[in-house]
Amino acid sequence: MNSSTSKEAVINSKVIKIYNERAKRYDVSTLILYNLLGMRVNRHRKLAVKKLNLKKGDTVVEIGCGTGGNFLYLEEQVSGNGKIIGVDLTPAMLVEAESRVKENGWKNVELLQSGGESFEFPKNVDAIISTFALTMIPEYDRVICDGADALKQGGKWVVMDFRAPQNWLKRFVPLLVTLVKPYGGTIEMADRHPWESMGKYMSNVVVKGFWFGMAYIAEATKR
Ligand SMILES: C[S@@+](CC[C@H](N)C(=O)[O-])C[C@H]1O[C@@H](n2cnc3c(N)ncnc32)[C@H](O)[C@@H]1O
Repeated sequence: MNSSTSKEAVINSKVIKIYNERAKRYDVSTLILYNLLGMRVNRHRKLAVKKLNLKKGDTVVEIGCGTGGNFLYLEEQVSGNGKIIGVDLTPAMLVEAESRVKENGWKNVELLQSGGESFEFPKNVDAIISTFALTMIPEYDRVICDGADALKQGGKWVVMDFRAPQNWLKRFVPLLVTLVKPYGGTIEMADRHPWESMGKYMSNVVVKGFWFGMAYIAEATKR
């Protein structure tokens, strides 16, 4: 194991511990947090999914799918004969995702336990999404590169996440880090800029900020 992979393994085991403990309460606790912060998260989930330009029958991969909070919106787009591949590092989060899938009777969702950084994307996928997860992965650039390789021509990669604001709220970054710390958030995450990687490997990158510039949705197209 080289030093970067052993560092990765330590980070991943911390993430697994945090999310194994939080999985059962994740949906309720994050909804409360988002409401307290005045963020209408489901509206943004829907918007992020819309940017994937999915059609019925398409295959979409979600990296860091967690409990499957985006699945309903993805299902609405790809419907029964399309496919959703949900990838996550944490077993307990996938257990919650599996319950959601069963409760809704969805037959077209495949759940895989894997780090995004070591996931082998299936070839020619129609779209890839990651929400509030990619910035947690130190090797996010590799994930974006591998995903871009696997996308079919014209396919979309969409990322929604928090970011350090560049406006007058800059001074509140330490407070923001404190808020996301129970969810594995770290100050290092402020220096990770997935939209820059998207620009390296794809075209037509569009980044739209929301929640006072502290969150964004970035989209890019495979050419
Ligand atoms: C804040 S939750 C977001 C979950 C979901 N995407 C959402 O929007 O609610 C972060 C998720 O990323 C997952 N995660 C963190 N590091 C990961 C990695 N290296 N590979 C895959 N998933 C990872 C965690 O297990 C967790 O489920």
